[in-house]
Amino acid sequence: MTLHPLNICRAWAAAAVFLSLVLSGCGATSIPTITPLPATPTPTPEPTPRPEVLKAGKDAFVRIGCVACHEIKGVSDNVLTAPPLTEAYKLVTSILKSPEYKKSAGKARTPRDFLIESIMEPDAFTYPDCPQGPCIKGTMPSNYKDIIRPEELNTMVEYLLSLGR
Ligand code: HEC
Repeated sequence: MTLHPLNICRAWAAAAVFLSLVLSGCGATSIPTITPLPATPTPTPEPTPRPEVLKAGKDAFVRIGCVACHEIKGVSDNVLTAPPLTEAYKLVTSILKSPEYKKSAGKARTPRDFLIESIMEPDAFTYPDCPQGPCIKGTMPSNYKDIIRPEELNTMVEYLLSLGR
């Protein structure tokens, strides 16, 4: 049997249509669509405090007068009596690891406990480096334990822990 050239053409066309249908069908069914994996959240040891808590803590820091001695950039600039607290969290974590703190009367193990201790019992540990020379023990008022309300202390500690993380 001999095929007329036109018939060969039709056969090819039919084959091509069939093939393209099969291929497009394949595409629709068997090529998996790639859905990006949800980003794995970095584990945070503690939930981030609410903005109102941080705001209340900052207000307490100003109202109680810590701003008279401690610099926090944007809150109390260029205050030179005491160690700057702009990066309070970093400062606290480095103090906690230091041999000077381990030798002191300080008992804190966590940054939060350290801040509570350094506000309520400022003489448990005397930080050595103040901006204008060695820090002087007894400069930081020691009566905060009598005048700071618990919620003020808590919000202020949350605020300080949020700085320099
Ligand atoms: C009259 C100045 C003065 C005031 C007011 C003051 N501090 Fe201090 N503070 C110091 C000095 C000086 C140091 C460093 C010497 C020391 O450790 O006692 C210090 C140290 C610190 C430290 C470092 C840790 C430590 O125990 O050494 C923290 C944290 C701190 N103060 C927080 C506060 C907070 C919060 C307030 C307000 C409730 C405050 N300070 C008010 C002078 C002050």
